[in-house]
Amino acid sequence: MRGYSSAVEARELSRDYISARRNRFVGRKRTTVVKALDNVSFEIQEGELFGLLGPNGAGKTTTVKILCTLLEPTGGHAFVKGYDVVKEAKHVRSIVNMVAGGERMLYYRLTGRENLTYFADLYDVPRKEVSSRVNKLLELVGLSERGNDEVEKYSKGMKQRLQICRGLINDPEVLFLDEPTLGLDVNIAKDIRRFIREEIVREQGKTVLLTTHYMYEAEEMCDRVGFLNNGRLVAVGQPEELKRKTPSGFSVELMVIRLTDDAFEGLKLLKNVTKVIATEYVGETEGEKIDRLIINVESDKAVPAVLDYMSAKHCRVVSVNLRGPTLEDLFMFYTGET
Ligand SMILES: Nc1ncnc2c1ncn2[C@@H]1O[C@H](COP(=O)(O)OP(=O)(O)OP(=O)(O)O)[C@@H](O)[C@H]1O
Ligand SMILES: [Mg+2]
Repeated sequence: MRGYSSAVEARELSRDYISARRNRFVGRKRTTVVKALDNVSFEIQEGELFGLLGPNGAGKTTTVKILCTLLEPTGGHAFVKGYDVVKEAKHVRSIVNMVAGGERMLYYRLTGRENLTYFADLYDVPRKEVSSRVNKLLELVGLSERGNDEVEKYSKGMKQRLQICRGLINDPEVLFLDEPTLGLDVNIAKDIRRFIREEIVREQGKTVLLTTHYMYEAEEMCDRVGFLNNGRLVAVGQPEELKRKTPSGFSVELMVIRLTDDAFEGLKLLKNVTKVIATEYVGETEGEKIDRLIINVESDKAVPAVLDYMSAKHCRVVSVNLRGPTLEDLFMFYTGET
């Protein structure tokens, strides 16, 4: 095996799409260039679950396609286990696989078992291993009993579980999952997330690159994430690390009795406080009105100052809740969208 430092490496990767459109009136072709990826570099360590996040059109699928050899980059290089995805595409293909959500990459007239056997043949899985591998995969995703039914009779969640079996049929070292839970109901999506994390990554030690639009999914699953925006990688790191170093802020929720207009206005002027919103009236305690305040602060250091201030203004704080930034807040910060 070749020496390499990371399971996946993208080095200044770029991809332009050139589309030519003929002008209806003049008959002349006009070409436009879309920079789908612009100088993107990152690494994924072995056994890591890496999430590539970003809005529609950010370049996630383009990155996945390049890394699994379905598309060539127009600039830069990429390596899987040290093998060049362009110059050594054939070898890379034998050690990776890809599953996309909501796509038809299965033969609906064949049974689940026949589909997997067919894909095992395509990957040259040794004949004597095929049947046991297929059975094991069906069992892992809970499809053993439905293995002999035609795929057209499967529900969406069952089809997606079978897709994941297809992605594992060549026992890939690196698995690319492009929105694997797209369109699935909450419980099935949860099962699939657990399977990816516990079985594929923790148990089998595979490296996974996942794209998703669901921030809670990335938060729950990924060791590290990268944010892509307009083809550029704008941040990479562990979710917790990114939350610490991103000035997207915390918010503090305060329940207050005897809040005066003067105290409310003064709050906005405190150091590290960026925004104060008074929200709905939530009830009364001991006959006194309670106000709910959401205070955006740049760091949690502002909290004691806020509490001291409230006390100096004779406002009684009945509860304090600190809400740290979520991945969704980071997504907004890095891509300007929710
Ligand atoms: N075959 C193609 N021809 C021309 N432009 C393309 C092609 N494929 C993708 N693009 C463009 O490249 C950019 C990146 O697309 P890509 O599919 O990689 O985004 P994505 O992050 O996967 O988005 P989504 O979240 O919607 O799946 C977009 O502007 C898209 O329109
Ligand atoms: Mg995509």
